[in-house]
Order: sequence, then structure tokens, then C-alpha cells
Amino acid sequence: MKPDILRSWRSNAKEWNTIIENGEIPSRRYTNEAILKVIDKIGPKKLADLGCGEGWLTREMTKVGIEAHGFDATEELIAFAQKKGGEAYHLLDFAHIIQGVQLPNAPFEMAVFNFSLYQKNDVRPLLANTLNSLTPSGVLLIQTLHPNFLLENELEYRSQWISDSWKGLPGNFKDGHAWYARTLEDWVELISNIGHTTFVTKEIHASENKPLSLIIQIYKQNGEV
Ligand SMILES: C[S@@+](CC[C@H](N)C(=O)[O-])C[C@H]1O[C@@H](n2cnc3c(N)ncnc32)[C@H](O)[C@@H]1O
Repeated sequence: MKPDILRSWRSNAKEWNTIIENGEIPSRRYTNEAILKVIDKIGPKKLADLGCGEGWLTREMTKVGIEAHGFDATEELIAFAQKKGGEAYHLLDFAHIIQGVQLPNAPFEMAVFNFSLYQKNDVRPLLANTLNSLTPSGVLLIQTLHPNFLLENELEYRSQWISDSWKGLPGNFKDGHAWYARTLEDWVELISNIGHTTFVTKEIHASENKPLSLIIQIYKQNGEV
């Protein structure tokens, strides 16, 4: 399956901007707070928000004195972000990072993929090359839907393509794209294969103890990947 992720994001950018502005995704209450807490604990001074969307996380960084740059391949979302904040926003497709292009304005002390990884292939080089745009003590964060998503949706517990990324969200989304859901074991295997890194996983729960998301913190070892 070859999902046309970026075409789908282009078609739905306006709708996405609206539901984020109106706080219409209930789980975001927990997951936004969770990623902000992890960032705060680590305390970077300069951060790259990869797949920044309309830029909420980048703007939050400015509020706490962190120099943040937002990167996204969806021009419409970068335009929304630029209207809402004065941070530096860059139009960038992850494909370029995979090809080995350094992040503009690197090095960063932290890079964050907040719900912006959808692919099955090339995620390892994407993460390894992103780590190469970080300082020697840099940290890479990934927040993704919790693997329990599979069981909750009555699917087999195995990594697999999920056909419609917009399913279950409020809003008038169209032209959904597929995304690759991983089991916890497959996430661990993927990250372990980056080499010269250590990592920690953290499960984020809603108040009623339902697992919502997984945050993976990846640390460079010896400053090299
Ligand atoms: C669910 S949104 C998350 C946005 C933001 N991080 C947030 O927390 O609200 C996923 C984002 O990933 C971006 N994205 C998807 N594939 C991308 C790619 N190949 N290169 C750059 N950005 C990409 C989309 O344009 C979209 O803004």
C-alpha cells in the first residue's frame, strides 16, 4: 500500500486547523500536556518541531523561552502557523531528511515528531538523520498513538496499515490516507536498530486509565549516530 499522505493533508489542512483551534480532539488534552511535560523536564533551549501542522507546539515553546522552528510539508498548514506566530516555519518534506539533508538552522538540542510519523518504510533513516541534526547531547521525541489502538479497534495485535487516518475524528475530513500502526515490540525493534542511541518509552493515559499515546525519548550516545 502506498498512501498519498501529503495529498490528504493538503485537502484537509483547513479542517485540521479548525478542529485544533477549537480543541475538538478530546485526547489532545492529555497528549499535549504530556509532550509539554517531557520537553520541560529535559529543558532544551532550541527545538525542531517536525510535522508541526498549524504550529501549536512551536508557539508553546516560544511562551517558555525555547527557540523553536516548525517544519512541515503541507504549505497550507505552514501558512496557518505563520499567521498565528512569529516563529521560524519551514516547508520541508521528511523525504529530504531521509535523503540526508540537514535540518535548516541545525544543530537543535531537541527534535519532536508529535503525531507526525505515518510511514512503514524509511523511518529508521529518517530518525537517524534527524539525530544527526542534533547537538551531541540532543534528544529526539516521538509521540504516537498507543499500540493498544489496534485492540481497541478490534484489529489483530500486529503491525499493519490502517486505511483511514481521519476515522474517529470530528470534522468534515475527506480523502483519508493510510498510516502504519506498530506494535510496541516493533517500535522497540525499530528504535533499537538506529544504533548508538538509548531510549525510554512512556505511556500516556487518560484519567480513566485508558492508554492514549506512547512517547519515545531517544538519546544520542557518544554524540554520534
Ligand atoms: C496529525 S498532524 C500533527 C501536527 C502537529 N505535530 C500537532 O501535534 O498538532 C501530522 C502532520 O505531519 C505532517 N506531515 C506528514 N507527512 C509529512 C512529511 N512527509 N513531511 C513533513 N511533514 C509531514 C502533516 O502535514 C501534518 O501537519
